[in-house]
Amino acid sequence: MTEFPKKSVYVETYGCQMNISDGELMEGILVDEGYEVSSSPEQADVVLVNTCAIREHAEERVLGRVGQLYALKKNRPEVILGVTGCMAQRLGEVLLKRAPYVDLVMGPDGYRSLPEQLNKIRTGANSVPSRSPKKRGPQLAVLDLSIEENYEGLTQRRSSQVGAWVPIQRGCNHRCTFCIVPYVRGPEKNRKSREVLSEIQEIAESGRTEVTLLGQTVNSYESEGVVFHDLLRSVARIPGIRRVRFTSPHPNDVTPELLEVMAEEPNICEQLHLPLQSGNDMVLRRMLRRYTVETFLEKVQLARNLIPGLSLSTDIIVAFPGETESQFEDTLRLLREIRFDDAYTYKYSLRDGTPATRFPQEYFVSKDEAQNRLAKLIEVHRSIQAEINEAEVGRTEEVLVEKEGRKSGQVLGRTRRNKAVAFIAPADAIGTYQQVLLTGTTGATFMGELLD
Ligand code: 5AD
Repeated sequence: MTEFPKKSVYVETYGCQMNISDGELMEGILVDEGYEVSSSPEQADVVLVNTCAIREHAEERVLGRVGQLYALKKNRPEVILGVTGCMAQRLGEVLLKRAPYVDLVMGPDGYRSLPEQLNKIRTGANSVPSRSPKKRGPQLAVLDLSIEENYEGLTQRRSSQVGAWVPIQRGCNHRCTFCIVPYVRGPEKNRKSREVLSEIQEIAESGRTEVTLLGQTVNSYESEGVVFHDLLRSVARIPGIRRVRFTSPHPNDVTPELLEVMAEEPNICEQLHLPLQSGNDMVLRRMLRRYTVETFLEKVQLARNLIPGLSLSTDIIVAFPGETESQFEDTLRLLREIRFDDAYTYKYSLRDGTPATRFPQEYFVSKDEAQNRLAKLIEVHRSIQAEINEAEVGRTEEVLVEKEGRKSGQVLGRTRRNKAVAFIAPADAIGTYQQVLLTGTTGATFMGELLD
């Protein structure tokens, strides 16, 4: 326990599932030090904005939000405002200069020392003269990346009673030329499989039945000779766990063995996120994705052959430097050929320090053109998705009820194939598995009817 019992923290998370999981980890670390978790910034002494750096847009949103949160300090100057995560790592001291009211920036490898750093700020331990709580120590930057920090031995505070995020790997050894992740999360670090398995046993004992294994390239996991498909099989066999998912795999490490484990183990969901990025070989080469359209298609084919009904999702970037109109059309064509159930679509966003910034100036696609391509891509994807989903209306699916819906009396859940369904059911259905008739679709999500 620290000398400051009953401190409270509010964590607001932006970005990917790994970030959500990191937010839970920070909460867990602080709860173990006597903090309470607040559900609003107004009621917290420590406010942490847990950030994403993947695209410029994500960062702009966060900067605006941090500015808003500064208002809290007008009435309560003792509030500690921290920015954590990938954007904190990327901008570091620049962020402290730009936002002088931010007390702490902390990258993804610094969370273990969070309680200690907050105490330093609170007590002014590293400040020059004043010890008054209103004039605390200087701003703190905790930005060291680590080759081993995987947060073993710390407890994540799980916000859902239904499912659990389980990071098995942190960092990334790939060097996709567009991507900032290796620079803000460091090299790949894998947890020991026995630690992962015992954590998931505890998750099962807590009554949660779904786990999602997380890693930047989750399927390149390897620890003490245990490779990803071995770990996945063991996870799927833990008593009490009924649904296993994982994200995000790199296509190159989608092996026949992995697909076989997915096919054989009934608790592994028929769902695969397979980031394509582009449907043109030249662009893929410039992105350093290290696969071709042909090899990607082979993986899709094999996956669909082995896992009947497999639901596939993907990530696509348009207007990567040098992408021509016809190369972009190759992506559209491939989308029509593969027919992904879901696609996350992005305009290329330049990230300082990444290799793609060094392409010649004339390679860069204009903003208008990028916007046009994105709009076209979204249109094509939406129409494919709507066709796929309309064809699924009328099916009965097993739905794990996750939370209350927006309309009263309604709940939200997911099918094994990761499709969202809203239907009328009592709130105490949350956490249970129900047979639900899919009665309609918005194109992307479903309406359903609970069957007795
Ligand atoms: N610009 C646009 N999209 C990006 N992604 C990663 N880096 C960038 C970037 N610089 C996308 C990729 C990745 C997803 C998580 O974000 O599609 O798979």
